[in-house]
Amino acid sequence: MKVPHFLSLMDFTTDELEQIIRHAINLKRQHLAGSHRDTLKGKVLAMVFEKSSTRTRVSFEAGMAQLGGHAIFLSPDDTQLGRGEPIEDTARVLSRMVDCIMVRTFAHENLLRFAENADVPVINGLSDSYHPCQLLADMQTYYEARGPIKGKTVAWLGDGNNMCHSYMNAARQFDFTLNIACPENYRPDKGQLKQAGNFVSLYSEAAEAVRGADLVVTDVWASMGQESESQQRDAEFRPYQVNQELMSLAKNDALFMHCLPAHRGDEVTAEVIDSPQSIVWEEAGNRLHAQKALLEFLIMGEIKE
Ligand code: CP
Ligand code: NVA
Repeated sequence: MKVPHFLSLMDFTTDELEQIIRHAINLKRQHLAGSHRDTLKGKVLAMVFEKSSTRTRVSFEAGMAQLGGHAIFLSPDDTQLGRGEPIEDTARVLSRMVDCIMVRTFAHENLLRFAENADVPVINGLSDSYHPCQLLADMQTYYEARGPIKGKTVAWLGDGNNMCHSYMNAARQFDFTLNIACPENYRPDKGQLKQAGNFVSLYSEAAEAVRGADLVVTDVWASMGQESESQQRDAEFRPYQVNQELMSLAKNDALFMHCLPAHRGDEVTAEVIDSPQSIVWEEAGNRLHAQKALLEFLIMGEIKE
């Protein structure tokens, strides 16, 4: 039987995504009440990180521990992956030893090759194209704060990057409108724009995208691997900074999100990210609960209260 993978939000149905988010809210309640759960006792998650991470690493590792399982951190510096062992061979070997594999890598193609050769579920912990785990947490966070996101308007400011692509997928899956404002040279992938169809509108002016929005979202201007472009990007993205003036164009009760890490004074001002409209800490914290729900869904093959 083909094992399920979570490489992008489009790998699951809307119903499955909603089940995972509902379960995440339930797991969070249980966790905060101090109740213990060992649904993943004896299960092991391998985590392959080719890029840095704080939230993704800690949330997966803590999540496995809290469910009675174990997580192993693997970096190319300390494994044979860094010495040229093929991805395909690594996937085959790890599949014989662990129950699930999370991979954070550069080209999305690496993840596809990994999943193609793995006999256990593979989770995308961020690639250059997508960051689906972050979207599970973002959708959970919005739901907790405001209820269903269906029919709402989300404004994306800045780079048409991995996070932006995942928001485009989320717009399709959860049925909201996504207004994207970005410099012309940094628009999202054309094929993905086509697939997103009417769910997405592109703007060159930040103000136009934000007007009337229920949620305003941004991300770093230079993602991991783009550090050498920082100076050029700083100049081009400056008009897309999320500041108080821009936020005032959104709905009065609009929320602000950012996957973090954030650069205050660049993509967002301190005034906005540290304001009551900002729910970035809830968003980051929900990585733990959303991924615990995801791990149970993938490893156990079902969701049990
Ligand atoms: N948002 C996020 O994925 O953060 P990390 O890079 O710290 O994992
Ligand atoms: N777009 C950012 C997200 C970091 C969580 C990056 O890829 O570096």
